[in-house]
Amino acid sequence: MAQLWGGRFSKETAEQVFSFNASISFDKRLYRQDIEGSIAHVVMLEKRKIITVSEKDEIVKGLVGIRDDIEKGDLLITDEYEDIHSFVEAKLIERIGLSGKKLHTGRSRNDQVALDMKLYTRQEIVHITDAIHTLLKTLLEIMKENTTTYMPGFTHLQKAQPTTLAHHFGAYFEMFKRDGERLKDIYKRLNYCPLGAGAFAGTTYSLDRHYTAAMLGFEGPTFNSMDSVSDRDYIIESLSALSLIMMHLSRFAEEIIIWNSDEYRFIELDDAYSTGSSIMPQKKNPDIAELIRGKTGRVYGSLMSVLTMMKALPLAYNKDMQEDKESAFDAFDTVKDCLDLFNGMLATTAFNQKVMERSATAGFTNATDAADYLVGRNVPFRDAHEIIGRMVIYCINKSKENDTDVSIEDLTLEELKQISPHFEPDVYDFINLKACVGKRQTYGAPSPDAMNEIIDIYTEYLVQNTNLR
Ligand code: ARG
Repeated sequence: MAQLWGGRFSKETAEQVFSFNASISFDKRLYRQDIEGSIAHVVMLEKRKIITVSEKDEIVKGLVGIRDDIEKGDLLITDEYEDIHSFVEAKLIERIGLSGKKLHTGRSRNDQVALDMKLYTRQEIVHITDAIHTLLKTLLEIMKENTTTYMPGFTHLQKAQPTTLAHHFGAYFEMFKRDGERLKDIYKRLNYCPLGAGAFAGTTYSLDRHYTAAMLGFEGPTFNSMDSVSDRDYIIESLSALSLIMMHLSRFAEEIIIWNSDEYRFIELDDAYSTGSSIMPQKKNPDIAELIRGKTGRVYGSLMSVLTMMKALPLAYNKDMQEDKESAFDAFDTVKDCLDLFNGMLATTAFNQKVMERSATAGFTNATDAADYLVGRNVPFRDAHEIIGRMVIYCINKSKENDTDVSIEDLTLEELKQISPHFEPDVYDFINLKACVGKRQTYGAPSPDAMNEIIDIYTEYLVQNTNLR
C-alpha cells in the first residue's frame, strides 16, 4: 500500500478498504493524460515563480521519463498504489527526490482527475467521430452505386412502397451524421479546463489558469472552481450520444440480419465477417451484426449507471464519482469496436440487386401508385383507395387459385376495367416499379434525381467535415 495522505493517520488502512477504495486497476489507462496535465501545471508554476526553473526542468524530465518507461514496458503500473495520480507522483519522487514533492503544489487530485477525464473524453470523441466519418464514407459509396437498385420499403416490416437501396441507406447516413454532430457539440461544451480549481475552492497561489488551459488545447479555464471538480455532465452527454450511436447500429444490424436471412437474401455477408456453426455444416451466421445489436445494452447500462451515480451527489467532489471511469471506458471501447466492425462488414457486403428488385415488384408495393392513377382520372382518393383494395383481394384470390404470385400489373386491361372503368392501357407504364420510384421526386425522396441531389450534398459534407482536428 502506497498512499499520498499518511500524515493524519496513526493506523494502516485495512487491506480490503485499500483495494475497495483504489482505482488504479482501471484508471492506469489515464497515465498519458495525467502526465500531460502535470507537465502543464509545473510549467505554469515556474512561470509564476512558484517553483524554480531547475525544479521545473527536473520534474518535466522525470515525468517524460516515467511516460516513456511505461510505454516501453520498463515501468509497470502496479496495484500497491491507490490511483494513477498517486502512482505517477510516487514514481517521480522516487526518481528525482525533493523537487518531485513540489509537483502537487496548488493542485488537488480533484481537479487533476477532472482534467484527466476531460482529456480522455476529448481524445475518445475524436476517435469516435473519425470512425463515424469512415462509416459515412462507406455508406455514401454504396449509395452512389445504388440509386437505381430497387427494393421494397417497409412499414410494420410489411412491404409498403418501392424505394431504392441508396434511399434506404441514406436514412442511416442521416442518423450517423447527427451522431457525429452531437459529439462535436459535446466537445465544444466540455472544452474548458478544470485545472487550478484545486479541491474545489481554487488556491492561494497565483496560478495562471488561462495559461495551462491554452497549453492543453482548451478554449479557456472553467468559470467556477466548485463546478469544475464536480461536473461529470460531459461524460453523461457522451454516454448518451454513444447510446444513440449504438441504437442506430443496432437497428442497422437488425436489418442486416433480416436481409441476410434465407427468406430475404437481399445481401450476402462476406465470409470474413461471418461465422459457422459447430454442428450445422451449412450455416453462415451474422454473429458480428448480432453482437453489435447485443452490445447496445451495455452502453445503455453505462449511461444509466453514471446518471444514477451522479443523481444525489452534494457539491463538490465525492468518491462516488470514481465510478464514472469503468462505465466511460467500457462504453468508448465498445462503440469504437462496433463502429469499426460494422464498417468492415458493410464495406464487404454483396447486394443482390435482382432479388431486391423482384421483392419490390411483389407484395403490391405499387398499390398507392395505382390509386394515384385513378386520382389522375378524377376519382376521389378515398374511392380510389377502396377500388385498389378490392383489386388487391382479387389478385390474392387469383394467386391462390393459380398457385403463383399475381400482381396488379399482371391483370389484363379487361380485368382492371371490370373493377374500375377508369383504367386505360397507360396504367401499366404508370405503375411499373421504375416509374413508381421515378415519380417520387419530392426533396429527400427516392427518385434517382432527387437522390443524386442529396448525394451531392453528402459528398460536400464529408469534404467539409473530415474530423474534429
Ligand atoms: N481516483 C479518484 C477518482 O477517480 C481520484 C480523485 C480522488 N480524490 C479524492 N479526494 N479522493 O475520482
